[in-house]
Amino acid sequence: MSLASQYRKQFAWRDWDRALSACPIFPGQHVLDLGCGPGDLSRELSLRGAKVSGIDSNPDLLEIAQTSCSKECTFFNQNLSSVQMNPNSFDGLWCSFTAAYFTGFERIFSNWLGFLKKDAWVCVVDMDDLLGHEPLPPKIQEQIHQFYQHSLQSQNYDFKVGSKLQSILENAGFYTNSITLEDQELSFTGPASEEVLQAWSSRLDRMNGLKAFLKRDFLLFKNEFLECLSHKDHRSRCRVICCVGRKS
Ligand SMILES: C[S@@+](CC[C@H](N)C(=O)[O-])C[C@H]1O[C@@H](n2cnc3c(N)ncnc32)[C@H](O)[C@@H]1O
Repeated sequence: MSLASQYRKQFAWRDWDRALSACPIFPGQHVLDLGCGPGDLSRELSLRGAKVSGIDSNPDLLEIAQTSCSKECTFFNQNLSSVQMNPNSFDGLWCSFTAAYFTGFERIFSNWLGFLKKDAWVCVVDMDDLLGHEPLPPKIQEQIHQFYQHSLQSQNYDFKVGSKLQSILENAGFYTNSITLEDQELSFTGPASEEVLQAWSSRLDRMNGLKAFLKRDFLLFKNEFLECLSHKDHRSRCRVICCVGRKS
């Protein structure tokens, strides 16, 4: 299954209505969607009346975004570390499941603020502790802990960024409303359905950093992890955080 199809499937498992309804979106607003991927959220923002500028660096996903969104959405192939847009021109900033790609998200986020109007809103959604699930054997828990540290130190991914969003937005001068979203794939209790298990299997296979870190232990890790998700007493510690910031 293509990456875009996997993202599409995941879309249905997220509580997007709750996240979007926490944002002060009004018809005619111009909203930036940073890390837009296949444009699922650009489309939702435009359905609420916004004109959307989506930015991503994956040309395949951008092509899908362009064909599946209305003409109110325009897409740009840019690196989010060096976005080039007109200053002071957007009423809102949306960034979902992308902050974790930046181990210094606070600095990246403050660079983006120059594109916003003075009283613009922001909404950043990301995970805290993606691989935090129970019951896992102590050895696997330790591997996860070591992998999180390694990912942060090698500036690859911040698995704890969700827990930092509120203070990052507040340090940038926003009043915040931080919500924990329900999520049928990332944050659920009890054994996973076949469909969710398949999605996790594909997700683990896409995690090249984890494979390189674990080397020959990867297959054992994957089996133990999927077993944990299917366990009758399975419990997720992963949280999906949606942090909305406003200037007043
Ligand atoms: C997990 S997807 C999230 C897609 C969409 N926002 C969503 O919530 O479904 C993360 C996206 O961020 C993009 N991305 C990550 N790092 C990037 C960078 N440095 N510059 C541009 N895009 C980047 C990836 O290409 C990918 O489409």
